[in-house]
Amino acid sequence: MADKPEYVPGLAGVPAARSSVCLINGAEGKLQYRGYPIEQLAEKCTYEQVAYMLLFGEFATDDELKAFEAELARERSLKFRIIDVLKNLPERGHPMDALTAAVASMGMFYPGDHVEDLEFRRLSAVRLVAKLPTVVAAWHRIRQGDNPIEPRADLGHAANFLYMLHGEEPDELTAKIMDVALILHAEHSMNASTFTARVTGSTLADPYAAVASAIGSLAGPLHGGANERVLSLLETIPDSKPENVRRWAEDKLARKEKIMGFGHRVYKAKDPRATVLQGLVGQLFEKFGSSPIYGVATELEKQMEQLVGHKGIYPNVDFYSGIVYEKMGIPIDLFTPVFAIARVAGWLAHLLEQLQDNRIFRPSQIWVGEADRTVP
Ligand code: SDX
Repeated sequence: MADKPEYVPGLAGVPAARSSVCLINGAEGKLQYRGYPIEQLAEKCTYEQVAYMLLFGEFATDDELKAFEAELARERSLKFRIIDVLKNLPERGHPMDALTAAVASMGMFYPGDHVEDLEFRRLSAVRLVAKLPTVVAAWHRIRQGDNPIEPRADLGHAANFLYMLHGEEPDELTAKIMDVALILHAEHSMNASTFTARVTGSTLADPYAAVASAIGSLAGPLHGGANERVLSLLETIPDSKPENVRRWAEDKLARKEKIMGFGHRVYKAKDPRATVLQGLVGQLFEKFGSSPIYGVATELEKQMEQLVGHKGIYPNVDFYSGIVYEKMGIPIDLFTPVFAIARVAGWLAHLLEQLQDNRIFRPSQIWVGEADRTVP
């Protein structure tokens, strides 16, 4: 009898797909999208170029990129009934729940013949990449009692999001930093929310349902939800003074409490995205002045390396992103929705790849209960 596969908690290290979308070297802290190093993508590309490359496998030609950008711009607006859905949600609800609700409803407005229709798949992917930023910005305006701001076709993806959020065009540096942050968060192989998208898509559910389920997965504090918790955690360090960091960290670790923004299932070195985000912090501070919390954050990184570096626990993507977003005037509870408007490209890249050679996910289990019992 062939050996039964062993149970692996959290499927750690268990391959769930054959993929060419994203390669991570966790030991060395290296990340590549379709073989391109993240540092080069962050430096040389726009989010639109990276999203196209993730979705369709290669960088667009100039003409293809122009057509893609124009289609994204055309597809940014929302049906008025989706705005009505947002207007009827409780204002104090979490933005990730609003995003889930709006995206789940999209499938009703854009029904397709079937997800096996290649044009329906492609257009659904473009619409989701285009519309998620509009949903997040619209929700933020509506919950404050304001009308949403219509998207502008003359702004890039990142700049348009900030315009719809704040009601004014971002300066060039802020728009560029938003664009880099979206690139850094666009894709990350078989993380929980991407796996969720693949599982839902493997049933041939429509792309809107697959993305809505991925958003729900990303919202969890152990995954994308960590970024909004990092800042509030740093603010619990007594007097926000670096000299109090060591004792604070030792107490947390002694109580086996997870310190948000640290650790990773795959990286056992510093997350390369954290390093790029740290560079962005420096640019923002030069322009807008520094934040004391950054000194506390860098001291915590230093102390954590001494305390748990030997266990492979280093800063992950969520550790510095909050400092960047706060400096850009993004409300803390929108940090994870910003993660979602970036990662939608990665979710869809994996969904399209799954559908190219699909088999519905249905793992097994190890039975630990009783059987053949009699109802009393
Ligand atoms: C993201 O998968 C991805 O790619 C995700 C992501 C992406 O781009 O999609 O990179 C985005 O989700 C980043 C991670 C954001 N989450 C956090 O920052 C939350 C805090 N981190 C931890 O919850 C944890 O590190 C995870 C969830 C990220 C990873 O969990 P694992 O791999 O299941 O590791 P584990 O919980 O089994 O921990 C192993 C050991 C334990 O100690 P021991 O019981 O062995 O003594 O390391 C310790 C843990 O207590 N540990 C931590 C810690 N993370 C792990 N201790 C303190 N603080 C932490 N943050």
